Amino acid sequence: MLYSATINVMVKAARRAGRSLKRDLGEIEHLQVSLKGPANFVSLADKRAEEMLYTDLAKARPGYGFIGEEGGTREGTDKSHTWIVDPLDGTTNFLHGIPQFAISIGLSREGTVIAGVIYNPANDELYIAERGKGAFLNDQRLRVAGRRKLDECVVACGLPHIGRGDHDLARKEMAALQTRLAGFRRFGAASLDLAFVAAGRLDGYWERNLQPWDIAAGQIMVREAGGIVSDIDTSGDALVTGNVVCGNEFVHGELVRILKPLAG
Ligand code: IPD
Ligand code: CA
Ligand code: CA
Repeated sequence: MLYSATINVMVKAARRAGRSLKRDLGEIEHLQVSLKGPANFVSLADKRAEEMLYTDLAKARPGYGFIGEEGGTREGTDKSHTWIVDPLDGTTNFLHGIPQFAISIGLSREGTVIAGVIYNPANDELYIAERGKGAFLNDQRLRVAGRRKLDECVVACGLPHIGRGDHDLARKEMAALQTRLAGFRRFGAASLDLAFVAAGRLDGYWERNLQPWDIAAGQIMVREAGGIVSDIDTSGDALVTGNVVCGNEFVHGELVRILKPLAG
């Protein structure tokens, strides 16, 4: 596959940071991490990955702004371009040695995401999307699943955990969908949930209270694979509200129809 120079920059950065995360995962798996400090160890791994990504992306595109989960916003001289980066999406999985986590890099131009790369170094799955050029998993073009019967659909969600989000609303949402779906999943890495919808593995996905770095790359992935992504309640931009719902046109419509009335 021939990708643009920008995608090549993103992929190279993701792969280098990915090698670092994979080494760190190895330490966790082999219990090299002291029982006292696994969370600390993961937080260092996370920060190290973000610094690698920042170094590589800033070197290749000096001037672009950078929003990273760990280091916050770093203004650039080029006000139209911004990298939106989660160096480790799925931290809890990583901490537990569960190989479902990813590096997520989005590039926005004038507020619109124009490119996305999501890379899971544990299984070497690399997702790429560029505006108007399609979405790919390890060079294979992606297309969202075509199912049009909710009772045949497998849908993932994100659940608020201790100290986060609206637990009552999450229970209402699950109850409303439980009786209508073929299966529920909760994988624990938002970027990969979106990528799985793009790949047609999942028929749909919704989650509330996400951050731009969880969504940026995955949003363009789903759209370039022919899917619909929106805010749950307003049909506005999930990147702004953090409440994301997606699927093919039918599944997206059904999820919105069921979920929207439950909030508020
Ligand atoms: C989290 C994951 C998880 C989602 C959380 C996110 P992090 O990101 O994407 O699936 O449910 O809301 O914060 O903290 O692992 O980067
Ligand atoms: Ca995240
Ligand atoms: Ca993160």
